[in-house]
Amino acid sequence: MLDIAQIGKLLAETGRGLASLFEIIPDMVFAMDREERILYVNEIAAQAMGGKPADLVGRKQRELFLPALADRHSAAIQQVFRTGEILVTENQHDLHRKPVWIDTRLVPFRDAGGRVVAVVGFVRDVSERRQAQATIELREAFLRGMLDNFPHMVWFKDPQGKFLVVNQPFADATGKARPSDLIGLTDFDVWPHELAKGYVADDEEVMRTRQQKQVEEQLSVHGKIRWVETFKSPVLDASGNVIGTTGLGRDITERRRLQEEQRRSREQLRALAAHVESVREQERVRIAREIHDELGQSLTCMGMDLAFLDKQIDSGNHEAAARVAALVELVKDTIRCVRRISSELRPSILDDLGLGAAVEWLARDVEARTRMTCGVEVPEDLALPFDLATPLFRICQEALTNVTRHAQATAVSIRLATEDGHVSLVIKDNGRGITDEEIRRHGSLGLLGMKERVELLGGTLEVKGQPGEGTTLAIRMPLEANKSG
Ligand SMILES: Nc1ncnc2c1ncn2[C@@H]1O[C@H](COP(=O)(O)OP(=O)(O)O)[C@@H](O)[C@H]1O
Ligand SMILES: [Mg+2]
Repeated sequence: MLDIAQIGKLLAETGRGLASLFEIIPDMVFAMDREERILYVNEIAAQAMGGKPADLVGRKQRELFLPALADRHSAAIQQVFRTGEILVTENQHDLHRKPVWIDTRLVPFRDAGGRVVAVVGFVRDVSERRQAQATIELREAFLRGMLDNFPHMVWFKDPQGKFLVVNQPFADATGKARPSDLIGLTDFDVWPHELAKGYVADDEEVMRTRQQKQVEEQLSVHGKIRWVETFKSPVLDASGNVIGTTGLGRDITERRRLQEEQRRSREQLRALAAHVESVREQERVRIAREIHDELGQSLTCMGMDLAFLDKQIDSGNHEAAARVAALVELVKDTIRCVRRISSELRPSILDDLGLGAAVEWLARDVEARTRMTCGVEVPEDLALPFDLATPLFRICQEALTNVTRHAQATAVSIRLATEDGHVSLVIKDNGRGITDEEIRRHGSLGLLGMKERVELLGGTLEVKGQPGEGTTLAIRMPLEANKSG
């Protein structure tokens, strides 16, 4: 390798001198003696001083610059003569009202005896570099500010799993004081072994598939397990190479706790509703039976006694005969009334003949009370477990009440069927059609109650309405009890 002296010799031999080198470098170059007279100036420097090299050589710098600037130059040049050391400065100047950053290197030039006889200056406009650096610094500050004030954990790892960037919330979660404490570490340095293994596997998957992955995972923070929802993504460079993975983690422990609590209290409510429902049904059965048996019995006896009395009355006692006749009618009416109340409470036909007959009875009742036709389709051999027959009957009752009250229909049909272990019940009317808004509306307890009943038995309920084409209620339940809740 050539040293400077050899390069100088080479240049001298080719007759070009060191100076010819200075003509082609993009810096301003000059040399001055102790009196600050210009010994040499290259083309660019001469331009900046406002002349030609030939005109400037021999003049003092003081003649060329404003006093304040000339003083500054002088101080720097004299410092180099005095100390014999290179002086590097970076200053801001106003050039044509535009701020520029100037990097100046003043180099002592010695004679053969080692005495500093001149100062060679190299001056370069570094505004662009400064500008670029300022932009980078600004961007970094912005990113840092964003990351550290972001309320969730953020990290960026290289393909080997080493942390390149992490934010303060992430550092907090790992128990480190500052994000910088994590740079260069891997998951294994930070988390319990089992967790780290899982994270690394996720990163590998994300890099392989190049797809974002969303997971709800556990994190151990200060020894406590937290639930975190994490989005893990591959990071690609401009040419599409995977250069790492990034992650965003949100602590959802509290959210999960609330969800869990909600689920549990909903389950309890359901169980309670089911219990109330079954107690109510039992009560209905009991009252219906008591009314039917006790009251019915007494009324029948009264009727027989009245018939006996009727025969005993003198044929001339018209008033007594009329009263007894009225009483006989009253007793007959009362018996009918008792039957009606009792079967409205709980039709004995449901217990005696089963759901098919009970639904048929309901349909005839609707036709008798309204102008709607009510078709029923039930398989001959329909045999349902008792704990399905009652809810299905109650749902039919409620649905038919809704049709009579809301649908403005002329016809309604009920279809019961069993297939592959399920029973299905479809009630369809040709009325105005329920709207989505009505389906969603709070406070409609009828539909809600049906849904609850059905879901309690592991089934599904679907309500559909078409304006002008009616409403369909479709229910499907497993025959074998696989109750939820
Ligand atoms: N067959 C139907 N046709 C049209 N609208 C209906 C039908 N069934 C229910 N609706 C509408 O849905 C609403 C909710 O029904 P429901 O929950 O049973 O409450 P309720 O009968 O006490 O009003 C009803 O108020 C009615 O507006
Ligand atoms: Mg209703």
